[in-house]
Amino acid sequence: MNPNTCLLAFDTERALAQELARALNLPLQFISRHRFPDGELRLVLPKPLPDCVVLLRGLQQPNEKLVELMIAAPTARELGAKRLILVAPYLAYMRQDSEFTPGEAVSQRHIARLLSQFFDHVLTIDPHLHRIASLDEVMPAGTGLALSAAPVLGAWIAAQVPGALLIGPDEESAQWVREAAGCGGLHFAIGRKVRHGDAHVSLSLPDVEVAGRAVVLVDDMASTGRTLIGAAQALLARGAASVDVAVTHALFNGDALPELQAAGVRHVWSSNAVPHQSNAVSVVPLLAAALRPLLAAGHCV
Ligand code: R5P
Repeated sequence: MNPNTCLLAFDTERALAQELARALNLPLQFISRHRFPDGELRLVLPKPLPDCVVLLRGLQQPNEKLVELMIAAPTARELGAKRLILVAPYLAYMRQDSEFTPGEAVSQRHIARLLSQFFDHVLTIDPHLHRIASLDEVMPAGTGLALSAAPVLGAWIAAQVPGALLIGPDEESAQWVREAAGCGGLHFAIGRKVRHGDAHVSLSLPDVEVAGRAVVLVDDMASTGRTLIGAAQALLARGAASVDVAVTHALFNGDALPELQAAGVRHVWSSNAVPHQSNAVSVVPLLAAALRPLLAAGHCV
């Protein structure tokens, strides 16, 4: 065990935190959290803290968690942390990356900048970077580090459904689908999507023959699930032999999962970047491999 570094986490991510602590051979400590009747939060951190602290907090359902981080990060510094690394396997607000309507906040920029003010590094998995190429465009260079679960998802799919055809439902998914297909040695194609509202999308499937084929839909995330539901229905209507789904981030808000199953999807697989019953592959080896050099560079090992 390294006495100079610890992993801090919240109870809701206990399993992921334990796996990461084991992989890095770090002591694991928890932040306890109380929500007052008025909605305010009381956090209690372990005291004192070592020089280097890795804080794990996925930012699905992000608003309250962002406030937690704004309180926890400066408290960790007061309690002794000189180097503070945030591991946010899901990084929120990355889809709001343009002023789509005059006056609309480009939240991606502001949330990324906010986090970079509190943490020396921010590690994440498959952030939704569509109109920008790298987190360096929204954080000071070298602060943000984006890893990808696409290779492990690709290998998982290839093992479960040999010869599967991977389909990305929209242009934005192309980056992940291409990588998953490359790592799994599979063919892929990309569709198109127009979003009309939170839970209303129109999809055009790619012009490939799917009749009789085992198809796996791949995307970075499922939120309302409407993108994947629409794509699955269209594929089955065209005669696909089976439709499975693989996503990095299993947000699955509301009725997304049962509706996806009702649409005829056979298997739903996700990475454990977001804890969920569909988790099939682990992002911990990726996170640990990226954290080791950061900790070494900061003299944390
Ligand atoms: C956006 O393009 C993303 O890659 C996903 O396709 C999208 O966020 C999924 O959202 P929903 O599940 O609500 O359709």
